[in-house]
Amino acid sequence: VSANTRPPGPPTQTYDSAFLKACRREPVPHTPVWFMRQAGRSLPEYLKVREGVPMLESCMRPELVTEITLQPVRRHKVDAAIYFSDIVVPLKAIGVDLDIKPGVGPVVAEPIRRREDLARLRDLTPDDVAYVTEAIGALTGELGATPLIGFAGAPFTLASYLVEGGPSRNHENTKALMYGDPGLWADLLDRLADITAAFLKVQIEAGASAVQLFDSWVGALAPDDYRRSVMPASAKVFDAVAGYGVPRIHFGVGTGELLGLMGEAGADVVGVDWRVPLDEAARRVGPGKALQGNLDPAVLFAPREAVEEQAGRVLDAAAGLEGHVFNLGHGVLPTTNPDALTRLVEYVHTRTAR
Ligand code: CP3
Repeated sequence: VSANTRPPGPPTQTYDSAFLKACRREPVPHTPVWFMRQAGRSLPEYLKVREGVPMLESCMRPELVTEITLQPVRRHKVDAAIYFSDIVVPLKAIGVDLDIKPGVGPVVAEPIRRREDLARLRDLTPDDVAYVTEAIGALTGELGATPLIGFAGAPFTLASYLVEGGPSRNHENTKALMYGDPGLWADLLDRLADITAAFLKVQIEAGASAVQLFDSWVGALAPDDYRRSVMPASAKVFDAVAGYGVPRIHFGVGTGELLGLMGEAGADVVGVDWRVPLDEAARRVGPGKALQGNLDPAVLFAPREAVEEQAGRVLDAAAGLEGHVFNLGHGVLPTTNPDALTRLVEYVHTRTAR
């Protein structure tokens, strides 16, 4: 592990939080809750501060990042904040020509498909993302005992956007490269692992208490392909930040068949979508890891009693786990009623109070 410039472990003021205790599989005062995509379009206060500011620009303005990151903590009383950014921010920071198109997602001007294209993926230095260090400095002051989760996109999911040139249903160009030129594929994922590790280190050095690696689209792969073509790069990222002693969370959608391997890649906490009950997920992941999840985000559109019934089922399935962080099985949907989220936090806290 490279020379860390801060002592190992999360910042002391967040050490005893319910969130970090659950990640460490220690007893908790209540089950901690946060929501993937808790900051964003479901909140009117978010839409207000984002008016007229393009998505990527908002990620580079520390005062906006700080405000947007704090909004769901103030409103919902969640147990952790997640740094407001996007998985393509480090790629933009090293000069890749890309944008985030509203209602579409990340779009890359020139897709990466040939060996000479790799030259466009240079190393990321802390100076490339000085706004991240500045925003996290401000945030940790404001958050006090509430932990801040840093995050990055995992090599496969980043590669998918870079190779396809944008969002993709079937990832056909990505898979064509993976199967057709395994050497170039491995080099591409290794480049992305270095960039991702550097970006996570910046966030941890600045004060993040935990990190989450989003491999959102890796559920498109069979286990053998994951093991051979993706796991080495994801493991490299986790290894690179192991020495900091902050929990490492790993999440993807539709990854029921990959949960064991995603834990093996080096995660301390494995995120689970709503398709696999948490007790079954625990059997697949094995001992020594906490789980995060896994209420279907669409459940929040049902009446309150139904939301509580389904959240109760998640908590029942989690009853025997070594450590459980309550979350949705994927991000908050943009048209979710924010009051339903606030009530859900209250419900989980009350039902699990010890
Ligand atoms: O609160 C939080 O969770 C932090 C914010 C966050 C964003 N993106 C902000 C955002 C996080 C954690 C991400 C990660 C991200 N970005 C992932 C992994 C998580 C997941 O959902 O699986 C992925 C795959 C992306 C790529 C991406 N960026 C997509 C698919 C989209 C949505 C496109 C759309 O408009 O529907 C984006 C844009 C984006 N990232 C928005 C936000 C708030 C919406 C843009 C806006 O508000 O104008």
